[in-house]
Amino acid sequence: MTTQNSGLFIAFEGGDGAGKSTQAAELAAALESRGFAVLRTREPGGTPIGEKLRSLVLDHGHGHIDAHTEALIFAASRAAHASQVIRPALERGEIVLTDRYIDSSVAYQGAGRDLGTDAVRDINQWATSGLQPDLTVLLDVEPEVGRRRRTAGDAAEDRLESEADEFHARIRTAFLDLAAARPEHYLVLPARLPVDELAAKILARVESLLPLSRTVEA
Ligand code: TYD
Repeated sequence: MTTQNSGLFIAFEGGDGAGKSTQAAELAAALESRGFAVLRTREPGGTPIGEKLRSLVLDHGHGHIDAHTEALIFAASRAAHASQVIRPALERGEIVLTDRYIDSSVAYQGAGRDLGTDAVRDINQWATSGLQPDLTVLLDVEPEVGRRRRTAGDAAEDRLESEADEFHARIRTAFLDLAAARPEHYLVLPARLPVDELAAKILARVESLLPLSRTVEA
């Protein structure tokens, strides 16, 4: 493992309806107001090909997608995202905030779809040439709360969101296990806390990582 003086890579993870996008936006605004260059991005997506893959894998209407195909589509989207967007921004010294990264595949495809968390982690390590976040903010949400939040106002659920609560419970456990295995790289917070309180806790942790330095797994 080496340390480089360039950029900072932060991933937001958690179940559907956890409030990741809100917190990523709050953090981006706080960092930008302090003069940092921030790149906000998301998965699946983040590149032209990634956005196409996103609609392939999330929209209803492409017929059945088997679990291995699903995992490889997410990994393909991530490979493009890591090489075309995230690495170049880190090399420019920017702070990259991504809404979801490898942990989402480990949790949804590895645990949710039962492909095995090690196998899914390995294909994603390969896809990204080992690019890991410096910090992962895990917003922990109970499956019932997540479902209530994302269906508020009659919003339609995508292919993954519309899975049963039991699927989402497995995902929640997998996220928590990932955080417990490498606690120094995680900030785990209950998603039910008020938006402002979460934002303050996240900013405090991120500030502790500045001035900029980041680690790359060799
Ligand atoms: P997301 O973009 O967070 O949802 P939203 O449309 O609410 O912003 O993620 C879309 C779905 O894709 C979500 O249910 C989680 C799922 N997903 C995976 O199953 N594996 C992955 O690797 C990623 C990145 C997302």
